[in-house]
Amino acid sequence: MRRPDTPQLAEYFARRDGRLWVEDVPLETIAARHGTPCYVYSRAALESRFRAFEAALAGRDHLVCYALKANSTLAVLDVFARLGAGFDIVSGGELARVIAVEGDPKRIVFSGVGKREAEMRQALAAGILCFNVESASELDRLDRVAGEMGRRAPVSFRVNPDVDPKTHPYISTGLKENKFGIAYDDALDLYRAAARRQNVAVVGIDCHIGSQITEVAPYLEAVDKVLALVDQLAADGIRLHHLDFGGGFGIRYRDETPPAIAEFLGGILARVGNRKIKLMFEPGRWLVGNAGLLLTRVEYLKHGADRSFAIVDAAMNDLMRPALYDAWHEIVPVAPRAGAPRGYEIVGPVCESGDFLGHDRDLALEEGDLLAVMSAGAYGMTMSSNYNTRPRAAEVLVDGATAHLVRERESIEALFALERRLPE
Ligand code: LLP
Repeated sequence: MRRPDTPQLAEYFARRDGRLWVEDVPLETIAARHGTPCYVYSRAALESRFRAFEAALAGRDHLVCYALKANSTLAVLDVFARLGAGFDIVSGGELARVIAVEGDPKRIVFSGVGKREAEMRQALAAGILCFNVESASELDRLDRVAGEMGRRAPVSFRVNPDVDPKTHPYISTGLKENKFGIAYDDALDLYRAAARRQNVAVVGIDCHIGSQITEVAPYLEAVDKVLALVDQLAADGIRLHHLDFGGGFGIRYRDETPPAIAEFLGGILARVGNRKIKLMFEPGRWLVGNAGLLLTRVEYLKHGADRSFAIVDAAMNDLMRPALYDAWHEIVPVAPRAGAPRGYEIVGPVCESGDFLGHDRDLALEEGDLLAVMSAGAYGMTMSSNYNTRPRAAEVLVDGATAHLVRERESIEALFALERRLPE
């Protein structure tokens, strides 16, 4: 094995004789067998991330709830369910996915600002661990729905601690101007009111301040604010079963230097001290981001007056992060060529100028070459769309020398199967 292309999880995405492999499978074999664009994940990488997260919490009563919005493909959920993970869901659809892989409902937390009544019923019937409630109105609705079902709904309030996570504004969630959570100053009153309700049981508190956070300090600020509430509640006789600090742990895409997970979590654990309370987290990106890539083929090279374009068969509908957040993903050739590199705009076939995967990448390319867009395991497939009536990509999960096709490429017929033509 040679020098890794990507600094994280390099052992699972390495070159052999110059060619890029995922574990013990060459990407060229996957492209030949399943076509492109295709997402490719490494099972060993997923497992090693989950185990590392768990290890950082060793000796503490804890539960890691994987935030499946980052990647909800059933086979990926299978990997985590078999490791005993909990799950953080945001919809009835995500609940159905966890149940489909026989994930334990008692380890599910239900986040999100807009839970519908039917989703509440579905989650109550499944017997989830708790609802992360985000408003007084949601509490009213949940209390009523649980009463109608003859159940007591376990509740945790998502508190908005008003801290700046110093990340992209679109993925910052814990500032008071964000739509998320309950205003910090209202939290105590809401807990007291909830404790008097018939059909809800107060079990926890949670916060989630944003995503792709690369510093510990914003977490510590949030943790201190949450702990102040926990202590105040205890003084009022309201004892919580768990504390959930959400997700948001940043990864390296380019040159970010996020702290090691033990440092992130160690800082939080130190603040919690010897309080006897279960600790929960909702990591998404940290577990899956670096464990997957998007495999794509160069369709055309086009040398314009100003710049050169590599038009590839993956587009913004497959991986939206560059277009949406100006996110940077490393793009490497699967089989590098000798010859002078040129600065390429790596673009897709979609009819938008914002349809790019990378700007000004120095590469030596020929038409037909395969490229790997690295660190695409999180918020890649889950945010993909059918824009331009493009079927969604296939997905492959590599396990040692075996490449499992875990999602077939979507068919064109499936795209309009639910549509109805106008009557004559
Ligand atoms: N818990 C809650 C309540 C969340 O809203 C999120 C993510 C997570 C956990 C997991 O966060 P993570 O550990 O993955 O940072 N599409 C964006 C990221 C949006 C994150 C939304 N919420 C991106 O591609 O960067």
